[in-house]
Amino acid sequence: MTDGSGRAARLRDELTDKLLAGGQIVSPVVEQAFRTVRREMFVPPGTALDAVYSVDHSVVTKTDEHGVGLSSVSAAYIQARMIEMADLRPDMTVLEIGSGGYNAALLAEVVGPGGQVVSIDIDAEIADRARDLLGRAGYGGRVTVVQADAEHHVPGLGPFDRTLVTVGAWDIPPAWPDQLTADGVLVVPLRMNGITRTIAFRRHGDHLASSDVEVAGFVPMQGAGAHAERAFLLPDRRGKHVRLQFDSDVPEATDLLDGVLATEPVSVWSGVTVGNGISFADLHLWLAVLLPGFCQVTAEAGTDLAAGFCKTWFPFGAVHGGSFAYLAVRRTTESAGVEFGATAHGPHGRAVAGALVEQIRAWDRTGRHHEPAFGFWPTGSGVSRLPDPSAVLKKRHGAVSISWPQPS
Ligand SMILES: C[S@@+](CC[C@H](N)C(=O)[O-])C[C@H]1O[C@@H](n2cnc3c(N)ncnc32)[C@H](O)[C@@H]1O
Repeated sequence: MTDGSGRAARLRDELTDKLLAGGQIVSPVVEQAFRTVRREMFVPPGTALDAVYSVDHSVVTKTDEHGVGLSSVSAAYIQARMIEMADLRPDMTVLEIGSGGYNAALLAEVVGPGGQVVSIDIDAEIADRARDLLGRAGYGGRVTVVQADAEHHVPGLGPFDRTLVTVGAWDIPPAWPDQLTADGVLVVPLRMNGITRTIAFRRHGDHLASSDVEVAGFVPMQGAGAHAERAFLLPDRRGKHVRLQFDSDVPEATDLLDGVLATEPVSVWSGVTVGNGISFADLHLWLAVLLPGFCQVTAEAGTDLAAGFCKTWFPFGAVHGGSFAYLAVRRTTESAGVEFGATAHGPHGRAVAGALVEQIRAWDRTGRHHEPAFGFWPTGSGVSRLPDPSAVLKKRHGAVSISWPQPS
């Protein structure tokens, strides 16, 4: 063993130990896979071993001309979680959407010699690279790499007991459930109004119902399933811009927002607080699907927003008519806690800020302590009655439902 491979082996064991301690690995067969596959063989030459064996860093392997990531070796924590969420076991047939090599090698270790792994990538360069690296790492005969757009059926292969989508999806095309066995599991990072949750789905009558959920994002889908979000630039009083990004359509009459950032802001506070280090990721999801006019916000350096909340907090807000509100936070007297509120500009600023604050309070009452359930309803299935609060988001191939249990 050279020094490098000895260190890699030590880091591999340490990574596996951390994933066990963090609860991302729960089954011995997944643990063994992580202890076995040499992750460093699948990253670009020269990548520092510490970065390779980090729990939560992905390693980008291809970017577009603007430097936006097109392909990566995903972060180890989400790879472990997705394999566990899929309930992948020996002898199964599994489809991986989005190749890179490393994750497919993990899948091959888990399904063993009696199983089958198919990995599909739209990008010929990535597919060739994955095939080559898998061959070098000794998995050539155990993984079939296909170059095609995964929007469509994988020709001549399947059905699959499990499908793991390792690229950010906006929708679930019919091919994915069609190719699944009757009790199959589909794990997919699904974007809902700009927010991604990686969701394990199982069949439930005419729709898919979630069985497990994780917070994680991925590089966006290309090909027929690509989805472009729409952005609108709002100038402030110094001529700098705040970018509002909407899931599909920007609201009508955005000209009503002209000059809105130059107007005096108004803030409304919710009384809802969160302690330092406590996760409130689901507030983001709650507002994304239940607050009308929701948008993601990015502020150019030099704007008041960039100096303020965009720096440290989830930057999002809502537009209504000629008014714009965004999430605000202020320190509470309790040690290191913060209170949520809303700051707004425009003629109906107080009302728009009030609507945001009402949703923060509703989340505190109903959503805060409960994980939502997700459903995917293919075109032709009828969305059944859902508990209140729920949201249904229209997609090209059906609809996604998000529902929180009613408080008891
Ligand atoms: C995050 S990478 C995959 C990581 C990989 N599973 C690993 O070992 O970590 C996402 C991949 O999805 C691919 N991709 C994007 N759109 C696709 C599509 N429509 N069909 C198949 N692959 C796609 C990209 O080319 C990219 O290589």
